[in-house]
Amino acid sequence: MAKRSRLVGFGGFLPERVVTNEELATRLATSDEWIRTRTGITQRHVAGPEDTATSMGTRAAQRALEYAGLSAQDIDVVLVATSTPDQAFPATAVRIQAALGMTHGFGFDIAAACSGFIFALATADSFIRSGQVRNALVIGSEVYSRIVDWEDRGTCVLFGDGAGAVVVSATDESDSHGILSTHLHSDGTTGDLLYVDGAVGQPEKSGHLKMSGRDVFRHAVAKLSSSVDEALNAEGLTYADVDWLVPHQANIRIIEGVAKKLSLPAERVVVTVDRHANTSAASIPLALDEAVRDGRIQKGELVLMEALGGGLTWGSVLVRL
Ligand code: COA
Repeated sequence: MAKRSRLVGFGGFLPERVVTNEELATRLATSDEWIRTRTGITQRHVAGPEDTATSMGTRAAQRALEYAGLSAQDIDVVLVATSTPDQAFPATAVRIQAALGMTHGFGFDIAAACSGFIFALATADSFIRSGQVRNALVIGSEVYSRIVDWEDRGTCVLFGDGAGAVVVSATDESDSHGILSTHLHSDGTTGDLLYVDGAVGQPEKSGHLKMSGRDVFRHAVAKLSSSVDEALNAEGLTYADVDWLVPHQANIRIIEGVAKKLSLPAERVVVTVDRHANTSAASIPLALDEAVRDGRIQKGELVLMEALGGGLTWGSVLVRL
């Protein structure tokens, strides 16, 4: 029988250290007021010396497994969305496999910047629908504090560190719960709007995140709006059918723009950007984890997730929890 992917476990991890806007204002020409009014951010978590994409992703994965009532032995694939891996290779996914005690199955990383979790979830869905995989761990784990230029006030104030994970399990297509549709896009001609300047292949470069903030903002509003329409049209659904928006958490003004388009009241939008800032590929699974565990999102509700990131990459996942 044809398969569908159901989200059955949720987990998150945030590093202990919290850096407030006020603290940043003691070392940069910025202010809490500027950051809050432009972005909605009041603080961010920043990795300690021991925290890495692998260690944080492992913690989030363990919590998601516990929620699902499954063990690592039940997992067939580990997919990790990250732009800040510990090493060029082995993949963070493989390191996390080992940390979880898995020597079976397979794992690999997905590089789609802030859209990474959407891309990884869509990949897991494809494996499950094809019958190749029964249970998948999908993780977003990022340490942007190690790629931002802490002297560039235009970018460093926007990002934070953390990890989120979901367990996705195969169910029969007749099940009304699960992923209804996924839509992915990328356009490399806009690659210079948001990028990391160099990597292991170009060690002479700065290695810092660079961004044309205004252009990214403009693309985000337009592309996420069309993404939302694409996801709903594909299923013959309307804005009124959406119970929850769980967006990538880059900027409250972008989030509110999409919510307004959907005519969704603020209490139906999961927001963490105020406390987490932009944790890139980790932001959606962290937000999902929070809203499922505190009882806001209930079983059977229709959840729309969307993201845009460097690439540019963008996309959506529509799921009935
Ligand atoms: N504190 C104080 N002033 C700052 C600042 C900061 N942290 N960062 C930038 N500024 C200054 C700029 O230097 C500029 O000053 P100038 O006019 O004297 O040159 C002024 O504020 C306006 O800068 P600008 O970049 O035009 O501001 P903006 O209104 O576009 O807001 C962003 C900047 C980054 C908040 C906004 O463009 C944005 O959110 N873009 C999307 C970014 C994003 O979400 N990226 C991730 C996508 S995954």
